[in-house]
Amino acid sequence: MKTQRFQKNQISNAADLLKAGELVAFPTETVYGLGADAMNEKAVQQVYLAKGRPSDNPLIVHIAEKKELNDLVEEVPTIAQQLMNCFWPGPLTLIFNAKEGVFAPTVTAGLTSVAIRMPNNSATLELIKKANTPLVGPSANTSGRPSPTTSEHVYHDLNGKIAGILEDGQTGLGLESTVLDITNPEQPMILRPGGITKEEIEKVIGSISIDQHLVGEKETPKAPGMKYTHYSPAEPVIIVDGDNPKWQEAINHYLALGEKVGLLANEERISYFQNQVSAVFSLGEKTNIKDASHYLYAGLRFFENTDATVILAEAYPSNDFGEAYMNRLEKSAGKKYF
Ligand code: TXA
Ligand code: MG
Repeated sequence: MKTQRFQKNQISNAADLLKAGELVAFPTETVYGLGADAMNEKAVQQVYLAKGRPSDNPLIVHIAEKKELNDLVEEVPTIAQQLMNCFWPGPLTLIFNAKEGVFAPTVTAGLTSVAIRMPNNSATLELIKKANTPLVGPSANTSGRPSPTTSEHVYHDLNGKIAGILEDGQTGLGLESTVLDITNPEQPMILRPGGITKEEIEKVIGSISIDQHLVGEKETPKAPGMKYTHYSPAEPVIIVDGDNPKWQEAINHYLALGEKVGLLANEERISYFQNQVSAVFSLGEKTNIKDASHYLYAGLRFFENTDATVILAEAYPSNDFGEAYMNRLEKSAGKKYF
């Protein structure tokens, strides 16, 4: 199969493919998603195949208008209304009790709940409207690899396996949406940290909890996807949390082992150490967690085109937006710290 690359003036062509049950990747404000008609069982099964995704990991359904919800879920609780008013379109995925028999069965991987979000990308909102159906949209990468923040990343992983990619440059945030379970509206729970922080959500609906798995208290996460190895490039990733002397120690340690070191770190650190290592990728200014998040996945992928054999990666404070950054980085490193 030849994977077609569509520009924003070709949205109708991309939508026609989706209507015909084909797979088309689309841009969002977080990462690129792998689109398919959420009502077409065969198309949804192809999504799992193309990504190599485990069959027990449910998909997020993407809609273009809030009113579509009424046909898809059992009930829209008041807190959902409040959150949608504040954050949709945007990087907040809500888990509702699904209406029975609406979606292709593999969308929810056998669960009675369904994850839904409205992405904040005008081309993709138009694509959903033109396809005239909600679209599933897992991140458009091969399962286990860093999520795609450019159409090049999608092309690299899925060329020949999907019908098309709707291209719209680099995604803004660079990390996925926050997943919030509101199936029990009395006790909303974050299952995956992401683009909207816990603090931002609490300003709207009051105190919420966070899946104990995410704070290391429990083995099994509530979002099935969070239990798999994830976001991993070809080289091992080691997190370094500390100042230059600690980094120096880490670099010396790996050089002594005969490794070729890649540094994924803030601008300042890179200027300081670049002459000692094989490859560097800057995450931006040292205090800017939004930049670091924007560049994280691209950075992890970058080293595959260098001769680095190990990646030393920068820790950031894990408050606010840093929570999502550290969650993804720890997963890509398998929690390995120097
Ligand atoms: O930003 C995003 O959310 C991106 C863009 C493309 O929209 N999509 C994305 O999808 O990250 P994916 O499939 O890579 O991650 C979906 C996460 C997984 O951890 C999955 O287990 C969880 O959401 N999830 C989906 N449905 C669920 C459900 N009914 N209950 C619990 N977790 C669910
Ligand atoms: Mg993913």
